[in-house]
Amino acid sequence: MALIAPSILNADFSRLGEQVVETVRAGADRIHIDVMDGHFVPNLSMGPIVVKGLRPVVAVPLEVHLMVTDPAMFIEPFFRAGADSVIVHQEVVPEPMPLIEKVHAAGKKIGLAVKPDTPVEVLEPFLKHIYLALCMTVQPGFGGQSFLPESPARIRKLRELINKHNPNCELEVDGGIDKETARTAIEAGANVLVVGTGIFGDPAGPAEAVQALRSIASC
Ligand code: DX5
Ligand code: ZN
Repeated sequence: MALIAPSILNADFSRLGEQVVETVRAGADRIHIDVMDGHFVPNLSMGPIVVKGLRPVVAVPLEVHLMVTDPAMFIEPFFRAGADSVIVHQEVVPEPMPLIEKVHAAGKKIGLAVKPDTPVEVLEPFLKHIYLALCMTVQPGFGGQSFLPESPARIRKLRELINKHNPNCELEVDGGIDKETARTAIEAGANVLVVGTGIFGDPAGPAEAVQALRSIASC
């Protein structure tokens, strides 16, 4: 069974709390918060203040995806605001062990992400130390892009490495996930689906979208 992580990047920010609650009531397992600094990706998004605002509203984990050049600078403020875990990019932290140890010493969780152009094999030495490996299935920076066709092969390779080194490590996919690509990603080995537009842009509304994804992910 795969978990559903709504990405709030494409939510209606004039009623963010309401929309997040709606997804959780419909069965969302965690909330994915996309943080962008205008350097690592050509877009700006949100900071710890958003996590602080959402923390009292839902009980599910708040997961922070740091698409920033200097993640070490922001990890502590996000945990202080109420985040449960952070995900940092291997491209900016090629030697992540000190950061991983620091986060574990604080009693929190850390995952590692790779962009579509980075071979998933770079994560291999660290899989036994992290709770989650994130395989980007679009170029990070914006919601609403199409699932890249090379993604299933990358997910399959990462699944193989996770099974070898740490089967408890979650395999998350992020970008262009809809009802169809959700099946493809799960078949390739993903067990956490980040979904932005597929939930908050669904004409039937976020609750129905989560329920539909839930039934796909439960098969
Ligand atoms: C992209 C972000 C994603 C994105 C997903 O840089 O990391 O989490 O918001 O949005 P969709 O589902 O619209 O691709
Ligand atoms: Zn993300």
